[in-house]
Amino acid sequence: MIMIMLFSMISGRCIHSVLVGLLCLVIASAICCSSVGSSSILCMENERHALLQFKQSIVDESNVLASWGSKKDCCTWRGIACNNQTGHVMTLNLSYNSSDDYISAEAPLRGEIDPSLLELRNLNYLDLSFNDFGGMIPKFFGSLSQLKELKLAYANFDGSVPPKIGNLSNLHTLDLSGNYFIPLENLEWLSHLSSLRSLNMSEVDLSKIVNWPQSLSKLTSLMELQLSDCSLPDFNIRSNSVVKNSSTSLQVLDLFYNNLNSSIFYWIANVSSNFIHIGLQGNQLQGPIPDVFKSMLSLASLDLSINQLEGGIPKSFQNLCSLESLTLRSNQLSENIENSIKNLSCAENTLETLDLITCFGGRCQIWHLNGSLPESVGQLSSLEVLSLAQNSLSGVITEAHFLKLSRLQSLAISNNHFSINLSSDWNPPFQLYLLDMSSCKVGPAFPKWILTQTNLAFLYLSNAGIFGSLPDKCWDLFSGIFRLDLSMNQIHGKLPNLSTTSLVFVNLSSNLLSGTLPSFSPMLNGLYLSNNMISGPLSSLCATQIPHLEYVDISENLLSGELPNCWMQFKLLRVLNLGMNKLTGKIPSMLGNLKVISILNLHGNKFSGELPSFENCTELAVVDLGDNNFSGKIPTWIGQSLINLVILRLRANEFNGIIPLTLCRLAIIHFLDLSHNNISGGLPHCLNNISVLADDSVGVNGLSVELVWKGIEIEFGENLEGMRGIDISSNYLVGEIPESITRLTNLISLNLSRNNLTGKLPENFGNMQKLESLDLSRNQISGHIPTSFSSLHFLGVLDLSNNQLSGRIPVSTQLQTFNATKYMGNPGLCGPPLSPNCPGDEATEDDHNKEREHDNDGLISLGFFISTVLGFITGFWIVCGSLLLKSSWRYAYFKFLDNAKDWIYVRAVVYKAKLQRRLQR
Ligand SMILES: *[C@@H]1O[C@H](CO)[C@@H](O)[C@H](O)[C@H]1NC(C)=O
Ligand SMILES: *[C@@H]1O[C@H](CO)[C@@H](O)[C@H](O)[C@H]1NC(C)=O
Ligand SMILES: *[C@@H]1O[C@H](CO)[C@@H](O)[C@H](O)[C@H]1NC(C)=O
Ligand SMILES: *[C@@H]1O[C@H](CO)[C@@H](O)[C@H](O)[C@H]1NC(C)=O
Ligand SMILES: *[C@@H]1O[C@H](CO)[C@@H](O)[C@H](O)[C@H]1NC(C)=O
Ligand SMILES: *[C@@H]1O[C@H](CO)[C@@H](O)[C@H](O)[C@H]1NC(C)=O
Ligand SMILES: *[C@@H]1O[C@H](CO)[C@@H](O)[C@H](O)[C@H]1NC(C)=O
Repeated sequence: MIMIMLFSMISGRCIHSVLVGLLCLVIASAICCSSVGSSSILCMENERHALLQFKQSIVDESNVLASWGSKKDCCTWRGIACNNQTGHVMTLNLSYNSSDDYISAEAPLRGEIDPSLLELRNLNYLDLSFNDFGGMIPKFFGSLSQLKELKLAYANFDGSVPPKIGNLSNLHTLDLSGNYFIPLENLEWLSHLSSLRSLNMSEVDLSKIVNWPQSLSKLTSLMELQLSDCSLPDFNIRSNSVVKNSSTSLQVLDLFYNNLNSSIFYWIANVSSNFIHIGLQGNQLQGPIPDVFKSMLSLASLDLSINQLEGGIPKSFQNLCSLESLTLRSNQLSENIENSIKNLSCAENTLETLDLITCFGGRCQIWHLNGSLPESVGQLSSLEVLSLAQNSLSGVITEAHFLKLSRLQSLAISNNHFSINLSSDWNPPFQLYLLDMSSCKVGPAFPKWILTQTNLAFLYLSNAGIFGSLPDKCWDLFSGIFRLDLSMNQIHGKLPNLSTTSLVFVNLSSNLLSGTLPSFSPMLNGLYLSNNMISGPLSSLCATQIPHLEYVDISENLLSGELPNCWMQFKLLRVLNLGMNKLTGKIPSMLGNLKVISILNLHGNKFSGELPSFENCTELAVVDLGDNNFSGKIPTWIGQSLINLVILRLRANEFNGIIPLTLCRLAIIHFLDLSHNNISGGLPHCLNNISVLADDSVGVNGLSVELVWKGIEIEFGENLEGMRGIDISSNYLVGEIPESITRLTNLISLNLSRNNLTGKLPENFGNMQKLESLDLSRNQISGHIPTSFSSLHFLGVLDLSNNQLSGRIPVSTQLQTFNATKYMGNPGLCGPPLSPNCPGDEATEDDHNKEREHDNDGLISLGFFISTVLGFITGFWIVCGSLLLKSSWRYAYFKFLDNAKDWIYVRAVVYKAKLQRRLQR
């Protein structure tokens, strides 16, 4: 345009207007052409066609490939990049675009992968990761000969890896991690990939590749190797001909979560001395940390956490002058910490992360580092992360410990025996984003120096001896915090409006907070306020949209009024614990829209009316509605739809009608408590269909339980083992105890007392060999006590009193130890412990002796079992509310997430997705 104007000025008064017009046209078209020219290299027709054909066989629910075909130039389509000179498609990146936002996430691609991709002869980069293709990796991938990078991580491929992949001689990056291959038989194909620089086969089952070090030995260009969670077999360094100098280029090595023993140290030392990163966490490494790292002068990051390593940081670490990160979390380190810190002296100016925490995911070792923290820690001037939590460290923490730590961002010293001597007026040299001083005595007043930490995102001061109310400024500070744990202090006062904060996780449980529930941050994910004195209605939960809320525990407060009706917005709510409050009214039917809720605890309130349908809440695993005034029949949908139910407690309500047969479909129910209701009719004959109670082959740590609890299920699963019980006591049951009940051979506790049961006891009652507690008292049961009772070796609690039983009490180690009152009120019952003899006793002396001999085989301490049972009975919510009530677990869990950073979280999510896919098959 400037040229045109210039020209017209030059041409004076536009005499040659025609000429000018023409020129204009020429110039304009030239400009136009050149602009077309620069971006013009339209993609090749055949490649465009091939891509469209590829698209056709893909199932694309979210229309991820909308741009494919809508624009002519395929080089502009999503995920495509072309060579800007030749126009050939060089890159095809259809990696699933993950998003933190579960709600708006796109669906992964599915369907067939069409061989038309072979048309893309220049393809350098192919990434189909995190989709859901299923089936084998297409063989034709082995013919995409120009490929340099092939990424197929977590794409749900199965079968085995086509050996033709070994033809991709240009490949320098291969990522097959997280697929469902059958255990691979050999890795011969791998050895042809001589250009390979980066290999990731994490989470692929390599348990059969006994000679895996050999298989890798030809990959001489390898710089990065990731074989984590592969069930890599252990190997003996001596019997395996170690491949010396096989790959001197290796710099990054991750072999975490395998079964490797300490031999791996020597393989590593042989394979390269150029390592920058080594990750061996979660193996079977034992003994002291060996001196193999001494020549790895470039080593910057070493993770040996979650093993059984002993001692401390060895002297040889004095060579490691580039060390930036050292993670020894969760081992059996027990040395005096002073020596360990001394051996890091060369890294004084480089060390950024030092993690010596002994716990992992809530599991605390009995081993601890001891001694007092040397002041020389204060000289590690590059230190950004200092994690010493959960040890037995003692001594006084003073300002000297932080003297030069101006870069410190994360400080975790919780759960030691430190005494804290930091002046309230201290002006720390650092600005932390994480501070964990739980179980350190930082109170009684909230320390003023913490108020200088304006970048805080994570603040954990649980059980820190803080009394009184928090300074107002405090809440200003917290407005930028993501995770706040001030539980188990004596903080009182009212909670201010928190809707303008960034809080994602708040734990203020076990304090003295009062007033009404405030409104919370829209980012909130976990809200823990149990065991305070918060009163009034729940309605403020509805005041803000909180779409990410997953965990709510406001149990043991003084909440009153009815449940609000805003549950539609909590699409991700998994745990709702409002137990032990004063809530009233009916349960709004909208609660039944909580599709992913897995724990619902409303026990100990004054709710009434009939239950709304929860038939769509199919992930429910724990339902406790006990101690309310609910009425109506026990709904049939419980058994039809809630197939993941592990614990169902409806005790102490006003439920009536019969026990629906559908309850027998609850295949993994561990604890069924219908006691103290108005239930009538007979006991169902199908209880033996409850496979977890009847069948030993059904694991306690069943898939569903694992799915529900992810990180915390570890603790829960183990305790669940001892919790298999049925309690239908104090109802109006009639009829006989069905024979089929004796097939519940995993049952540990059975209480049918205070009903109107009649008839005889099934002869083979003793088949329920694991019974530790049996109460059939106050019924009308008649006949004799079957002799099979004498094989109930684990019985610690028994009550048969007040029935119509008669005949001899069978003789066993257990049955005679119970107080006679447990047999009283049965008109015809005789023999010890009730009476010394039955009429006509002498004749059977021999039989008794035989029985005694037999019983001695199974003699086990009675006291032990009594304590187990007592634990079982009183421990209901202690055990099963692991997440809800026992804050240390919860605490450990969340902290674990914080500290372990993203990958563990991602892994958990992916793992869940994998399981779900597997279930759908
Ligand atoms: C073409 O691609 C090369 C290499 O990818 C790049 O360096 C160059 O800047 C690109 N040229 C244009 C005009 O985009
Ligand atoms: C990935 O998703 C985010 C948010 O969901 C979106 O902003 C971004 O454009 C997507 N990326 C691609 C390549 O489509
Ligand atoms: C591939 O696409 C994903 C998702 O859109 C994106 O996150 C990733 O950065 C891309 N990779 C490359 C190398 O462009
Ligand atoms: C591809 O691999 C197969 C066996 O894996 C081999 O027989 C064939 O010669 C290879 N082709 C090329 C071009 O390397
Ligand atoms: C459960 O979901 C189905 C299908 O979405 C729906 O038709 C039904 O009404 C829902 N039931 C309840 C009680 O919300
Ligand atoms: C039990 O049954 C008897 C006789 O059938 C009846 O008289 C009694 O009231 C019943 N007791 C209860 C608690 O239902
Ligand atoms: C049996 O129980 C009764 C009542 O509970 C109690 O008084 C008595 O001491 C007990 N006897 C023995 C031997 O424990």
